[in-house]
Amino acid sequence: SAQTKSEYELSTLTTWLLKEEQAGHLDSELATVISSIALACKQIASLVTRSGISNLTGAAGAANFSGEDQKKLDVISNEVFANALRASGRTGIIASEEEDLPVSVEETYSGNYVVVFDPLDGSSNIDAGISVGSIFGVYAPSEECDVNDMENPEKMMENCVINVCQPGSSLLAAGYCLYSSSTVLMLSIGKGLFGFTYDSMVGEFIMSHPNLQVPETGKIYAFNEGNYQGWEPKLREYMDGLKDAEKWGGKPYSARYIGSLVGDFHRTLLYGGIYGYPGDNANPNGKLRLLYECAPMSYLVEQGGGKGSTGRERVLDVCPEKVHQRVPLFIGSKKEVENVEAYLAQA
Ligand code: AHG
Ligand code: MN
Ligand code: MN
Ligand code: MN
Repeated sequence: SAQTKSEYELSTLTTWLLKEEQAGHLDSELATVISSIALACKQIASLVTRSGISNLTGAAGAANFSGEDQKKLDVISNEVFANALRASGRTGIIASEEEDLPVSVEETYSGNYVVVFDPLDGSSNIDAGISVGSIFGVYAPSEECDVNDMENPEKMMENCVINVCQPGSSLLAAGYCLYSSSTVLMLSIGKGLFGFTYDSMVGEFIMSHPNLQVPETGKIYAFNEGNYQGWEPKLREYMDGLKDAEKWGGKPYSARYIGSLVGDFHRTLLYGGIYGYPGDNANPNGKLRLLYECAPMSYLVEQGGGKGSTGRERVLDVCPEKVHQRVPLFIGSKKEVENVEAYLAQA
């Protein structure tokens, strides 16, 4: 008889991964890596929620490679991610915002996946209890070199950097977890964009956003306008245009900016609009890192029919030269990103 869906049948991340495996969309080793990432996100969600009462707020007392003062939770979230990936036994190399260099994972015995991640995104918000997130991307080991060729430390480090510096177009999977009024894991394995909301009663991520499509337009923009004076003229002209009510039938665009890429991006995916972190005269490549912020988010937005651009080229086409390389980012609804690209093309 036709399989009638029992009212008690839960569609969870675990059951979805199994179905995707059965459909041949991903192999069991990649599913294991994704499950280990989901575990890390559950742990971080718990730490973030009680950070104020477990002495987990405040600075760690050191800076990361990008020159940012690390929060205690930046460092702890980094360890949580690294431990979960090590324990998966399928991860060969990891690269993190909070690690100066890529790390080769000895415990791997199969799969050898390369995982890049921002363990805690928007961490400047953590002490104020404002939404934060984690961002991740998964690559196959690079064919360019033998990831097990560990003849000497220099060669090993060179291998690790080659393995990690792959263009976003080579991603096998990417996602983020939003730690906010609800904990939502957004994920793609290249066959559409799926969202899972965490139910702490059962300890599972429950499917909540199947096949999410980004609205083609949206009258919300998320830029840090504090940097407006440093933007190139054509970008200032674009931004002025969004505020011109007459141009938009009497109602200008709305500004929404919380200073956490994961939170601002998640709203952009669901409601439409555009998130931008442009370059300015002080930082021509902007602030966001290509490898573990711009590329995974651009992979996700394209899976939902949106666009991710540096303003002059598709983010997924940019091959990183350096692990912590920054690029300008304009991402969200297709028409909104094309609009800002049209202005910048006139520059
Ligand atoms: P992170 O906390 O991982 O370093 O990322 C912070 C990023 C991003 O989350 C956010 O959109 C942006 O920094 C905010 O930068 P400004 O404070 O300069 O607006
Ligand atoms: Mn940071
Ligand atoms: Mn970040
Ligand atoms: Mn971070």
